[in-house]
Amino acid sequence: MTQPRPIRIFDTTLRDGEQSPGASMNLTEKLEIAQALVHLGVDVIEAGFPIASPGDFESVTEIARQVHGAAICGLARCNEADIDKAWEALCEAERPRIHVFLATSAIHREFKLRMNEEEVLARAVAGVRRARGLCGDVEFSPEDAARTEIDFLCRVVEAVIAAGATTINIPDTVGYATPTQMHGVIAALRARVPNVDRAVISVHCHDDLGLAVANSLAAVEAGAGQVECTINGIGERAGNCSLEEVVMALRTRSDTYGCQTGIVTQRLVPTSRLVANITGIRVPRNKAIVGRNAFAHEAGIHQDGMLKERRTYEIMRPEDVGLERTDLVLGKHSGRAALADRARSLGYQLTAEQLQTLFDRFKALADRKKEIYDGDIAALCEQQFAALPEQFTFAGYALTSASGATPTVELRVLHDGVPEAVTITAGDGPIDGIFLAIEKLTGIATICRDFRVQAVTVGKDAQAEVTVELEHAGEVHRGRGVSTDSLEASAKAFLAAVNRMALGPQPRLHPQRP
Ligand code: KIV
Ligand code: ZN
Repeated sequence: MTQPRPIRIFDTTLRDGEQSPGASMNLTEKLEIAQALVHLGVDVIEAGFPIASPGDFESVTEIARQVHGAAICGLARCNEADIDKAWEALCEAERPRIHVFLATSAIHREFKLRMNEEEVLARAVAGVRRARGLCGDVEFSPEDAARTEIDFLCRVVEAVIAAGATTINIPDTVGYATPTQMHGVIAALRARVPNVDRAVISVHCHDDLGLAVANSLAAVEAGAGQVECTINGIGERAGNCSLEEVVMALRTRSDTYGCQTGIVTQRLVPTSRLVANITGIRVPRNKAIVGRNAFAHEAGIHQDGMLKERRTYEIMRPEDVGLERTDLVLGKHSGRAALADRARSLGYQLTAEQLQTLFDRFKALADRKKEIYDGDIAALCEQQFAALPEQFTFAGYALTSASGATPTVELRVLHDGVPEAVTITAGDGPIDGIFLAIEKLTGIATICRDFRVQAVTVGKDAQAEVTVELEHAGEVHRGRGVSTDSLEASAKAFLAAVNRMALGPQPRLHPQRP
């Protein structure tokens, strides 16, 4: 029997995933996701683009220092300043990797770089040499490789391998490729580049045509040894290849691919929840593997088949991706150990102090709500562990309102710990009234770009989760609030977004835009 071929999983949730509009994360949040990625078993964590801003540099540095058990990678454009900065951030990592990229396609050469083929080739080689002088593990990406002339791509790949690149990543930067084409590109590189065996071939696909996973799998079939992906497929525009989908496809169809990854698949759902909670980017109900409906068999005929033999309609077992068959878990009388156990299985590692705070909040919630589900526990953990420094903390509200009448809102907050209150009669409904009261009290005017309410779990007493996107000074800030009272949840979400704004503008470079 032949051994399955190992496929490295390179996670770029913290770099390309964070390039999703409004998905920016703070240091605490990034560290928590990085730890969760280690528990998930990814091989490489792309922690960020260190030269982008002081905040990005700090995040990559801290992840490199504190997160062990995976290679930690930092992105750099193909110039000395970027590469040196990436190394400065990464040098304390157990296993550092510098990821250097330079566009190679004709359209990027002509309009973005204004360089000819020879200039691009020389710059790529110089960048890889510099990175290799600093770090033993260097990845090179010819950006927009999927639209690069294959002869030129082969020349670049051969030259950068000779210069010391240990991984060659083939990005479909604009999500234009098809599976057959991607297969052809990888096969051509393997057949035509004489030193190709000295590097691992990787693939990095965007989902503009909904083909990112299919293209990545085609690349694996053609011999790629690394797949770059993100949790929940988040990323620029339509997103990146979804980690959970590509991993479960490789596992479920190992008969076809003959490959295996090191992913602990039971951690997929908890990690997906964590990333959704932190970024505020919800997972669609019908999303493969981690969507709420992914394993729900509604139709009677399916249920009948499932009861007789689950494999009639089920190609994967829910427990293999970390989904419990029932998520009804705890109630008023549940103890601390049960809570710690559930929180751990949802992906949250708790210190004794954190557990105590969580337990107090859990008891308070259990007084308002009879049954506590996984979603409730995740929401409680999220409030506690990924909290930003709060300038304004919600302290309470009183409100009178009626159909067709202007509401009167009294809002109370703690402003840097000091109680403040405002009362206004304004707005075209209670939520608008609360938002206007917050604007008046904080002195921050915003444009509401998105407002969504959804139930965290099932039942009439379910907690409401409100997410808002507010625009201020040209930047969009996301906020999230959870409560059994949907008006309170709205106020908390709005204040969370305002607290992000209050941190001030966070200018940062985008790696791929001038
Ligand atoms: O999509 C892309 O080309 C990238 C590169 C920076 C690898 O994200
Ligand atoms: Zn990308």
